[in-house]
Amino acid sequence: MILVKSIKELRTQVELWKNEGKSIGFVPTMGYLHEGHGSLISKAKSQNDKVIVSIFVNPTQFGPNEDLDKYPRDLENDKKVVSSNGGDLIFAPEVKEMYPSEIYTFVNTSVLDNNLCGIKRPGHFRGVCTVVSKLFNIVKPHRAYFGKKDYQQLAIIRKMVEDLNFDVEIIGCEIIRSDKGLALSSRNSYLTDIEKEESLVLNRTLNMLKEKIKSGITNVNELVKIGEENILTEKSTKVDYLKIVDINTMEDVVEVDRNVLIALAVYINEKVRLIDNIEIIKE
Ligand code: PAF
Repeated sequence: MILVKSIKELRTQVELWKNEGKSIGFVPTMGYLHEGHGSLISKAKSQNDKVIVSIFVNPTQFGPNEDLDKYPRDLENDKKVVSSNGGDLIFAPEVKEMYPSEIYTFVNTSVLDNNLCGIKRPGHFRGVCTVVSKLFNIVKPHRAYFGKKDYQQLAIIRKMVEDLNFDVEIIGCEIIRSDKGLALSSRNSYLTDIEKEESLVLNRTLNMLKEKIKSGITNVNELVKIGEENILTEKSTKVDYLKIVDINTMEDVVEVDRNVLIALAVYINEKVRLIDNIEIIKE
């Protein structure tokens, strides 16, 4: 497994592989890798000759009061996760390599970011789309892999690729959960064991709402009320949002009369914000 820090080295290696006719899969990450990332890497490996994983905590997607400075980092463990899942190269640039001077040009998003985390984290998706565009231009992969835990991010990136004609296929991958059901996230490392137990209420609530919908409750206000009450049975929780949205447009729906996403963001003890979601596909 190769570790490169400069864009120049990365481009040289990719060109070599492409000249040999190799296909390139790309997994963009912010590091502190876990099994969720591992599953993206192994999926990429099953569909491509070479897999590149970027590790870059991107400052432009963090708001002023967010966790940029304390975002967890562990390159040694990341190397193990990448190589044990078949990754071939880690691209881990410094901030100065990616942003050598003040950036004046951004990729702006609209419509799909008018709800959920797009409202709660102003500027977040602009930062994501800007860095992902830069990474696509640097890596020039054939396929890129994103997890469905960040469902809105996946939808926005798919649309960006369509709108801006990026020559890359976007592959969405299923959420990976702990044995007990907590969606894996680098931010879970902020949680104590007790808080991890309490956080299981997120997945429980999503599954409960799925069952309610199956049993015939389709009114969104009613479902949201049931869901919020269930989350608040754990005393450490505060609901940032619980929404039921059209799976394609990310717009609120009034009734579950089409394919929807139930998405939530919950604060645990006011300090850690977790997101999770479930797709409800009409049979
Ligand atoms: O999902 C993430 O980890 C980040 O938003 C991404 C896509 C790597 C961009 O920084």
